[in-house]
Amino acid sequence: MKSPALPASAVPLSTNKHLLRWVEKMAELTRPAAIHWVDGSQEEFDALCAEMVAGGTLIQLNEGLWPGCYLARSDPSDVARVEDRTFICSLSKDNAGPTNNWVNPFEMRRTLKNLFRGCMRGRTMYVLPFSMGPIDSPMSRIGVELTDSPYVVVNMRIMARIGLPVFREIDQDIKRVVPCMHSVGAPLGPGERDVPWPCNPVKYIVHFPEAREIWSYGSGYGGNALLGKKCFALRIASNIARDEGWMAEHMLILGVEDPQGERTYVAAAFPSACGKTNFAMMIPPKGFEGWKIWTVGDDIAWIKPNADGELYGINPEAGFFGVAPGTSPKTNPNAIAALSRNTIFTNVALTPDGGVWWEGLTPEPPAECIDWQGNKWTPQIGKQTGKKAAHPNARFTAPASQCPSIDPHWEDPNGVPISAFIFGGRRAATIPLVYQAFNWSTGVYVGATMGSETTAAAAGAVGKVRRDPMAMLPFCGYHMGDYLRHWLRMQRSLTSTPRIFQVNWFRKDSEGQFIWPGFSQNMRVLKWIVDRVHSRAAGRETPIGWMPRYGDIDWQGLEFPEDKFEELQSFDRDAWYSEVIGHEELFIKLHDHLPPEMIYERELLICRL
Ligand code: OXD
Ligand code: MN
Repeated sequence: MKSPALPASAVPLSTNKHLLRWVEKMAELTRPAAIHWVDGSQEEFDALCAEMVAGGTLIQLNEGLWPGCYLARSDPSDVARVEDRTFICSLSKDNAGPTNNWVNPFEMRRTLKNLFRGCMRGRTMYVLPFSMGPIDSPMSRIGVELTDSPYVVVNMRIMARIGLPVFREIDQDIKRVVPCMHSVGAPLGPGERDVPWPCNPVKYIVHFPEAREIWSYGSGYGGNALLGKKCFALRIASNIARDEGWMAEHMLILGVEDPQGERTYVAAAFPSACGKTNFAMMIPPKGFEGWKIWTVGDDIAWIKPNADGELYGINPEAGFFGVAPGTSPKTNPNAIAALSRNTIFTNVALTPDGGVWWEGLTPEPPAECIDWQGNKWTPQIGKQTGKKAAHPNARFTAPASQCPSIDPHWEDPNGVPISAFIFGGRRAATIPLVYQAFNWSTGVYVGATMGSETTAAAAGAVGKVRRDPMAMLPFCGYHMGDYLRHWLRMQRSLTSTPRIFQVNWFRKDSEGQFIWPGFSQNMRVLKWIVDRVHSRAAGRETPIGWMPRYGDIDWQGLEFPEDKFEELQSFDRDAWYSEVIGHEELFIKLHDHLPPEMIYERELLICRL
């Protein structure tokens, strides 16, 4: 009897024997009902979306209003990154350091093997090749994600370069492939009906830094499941970068162009959900006619010294996985344009006309909508129950190429030159609007001691100040003390070191109101930063660094009283004493790997205070 022909997608799209053997081995372990080799085409994307619409995972939005857009509602238990279930399983516990969860890698492999045994039964295993960074860039890296989630496949198609061109790279066997295993952990019995968002209450997000390998189980959501993003481009890449002398950072990259056409690129680190996307896509305010902000990336930067010792950065991603609530035509028109088509929304509200809504999108909420959990929501219900229409960590997955401010060089294989680093947290007090660190090692200290109030991007309490060095606390794939040493060492490979700044858009007055208007007005701060980079702006020396005076900021187009500016910039010696004591908490944790420069910088700061 002739066996039935395999569907086209089941035919391997690679000839790389290591890949073929690995896929076979993983299929033996996980027992999927089918294997689908992802070619990355539009037809494939459309077919997967149609299947998910039929199965209830996706809702197709009104094609006239939101062309090519879909809405997914996650399980209410699977809405954010799970930091307490994220592990760095280096061979020695010491290499993971005290800020990461660690389990002996041999033990973890046993646990994972048991979890993954048969976990894809009744589902399709997708073989999803992806490149972080443009395919032809020497700075790019490749991975293959084996996943049983079609939602992951369609999101990854927006967030990374995927499919046939990547298989071609793998077949040439030049770049090392990072294997990424992913399962939602919800096998289906024969004839069992699937749920719209399969997942498992048991979750493991595991990294093996030496083997450069990722295993993720139980979650279908964002940074837990789109493994190219946080798991690869930050946790694994930070290990690769340390070994190879470059930097994998939780940073946006933007270019500031002045009316004369001079373009200066800066990279900025802010913790999750603190406005990186808004900053990266800012439209200059009134008074800055002729200025332009160009977006290279909004979340992750891979930065490397070139042969002349200058730092160049790429955005390893191809899309934005942005926080929807608070994003509006007023706060971020470029993001709104980017997400207006070909976008996948997750956990936002559905309006009666087949559109989407979230808190902050419009000043007035719709009279009625379906909330992120699929229930009727009205402003009245919201008021009575405190329920939001969209989850606070609701997201849009939108192609970067659709962003009107996307930089013409955003896919340059050699990246763009980085002239400054900016660190920023969400701090109600103490930290001024902006100041410049005295030099590289003081700047590293500023980044290392950055604090921020926690947000909804991770499961857990919201609004607590935690130390988040370089916004990398949840993303550094090795010992944080060694990471700071790596930063200090980077200076040796540089002929000109970028200037380092700290900003804080979130300072509040005694009434608890934000003092700074933020958003497009941040351009004024950025201009001072760019002028400092080019040695064109003045400042005054203070114990913490160089600060602009009122007159050093360009106020054209904005009435902002000098006394308010002084309040924003005020330096409170007592508050800084407490701040420095706060720095100790992290330093005590890292003590045996803490670079001595950090201790000296702290002593110097105390002396200056
Ligand atoms: C993100 C995050 O999704 O930092 O970018 O959580
Ligand atoms: Mn992020």
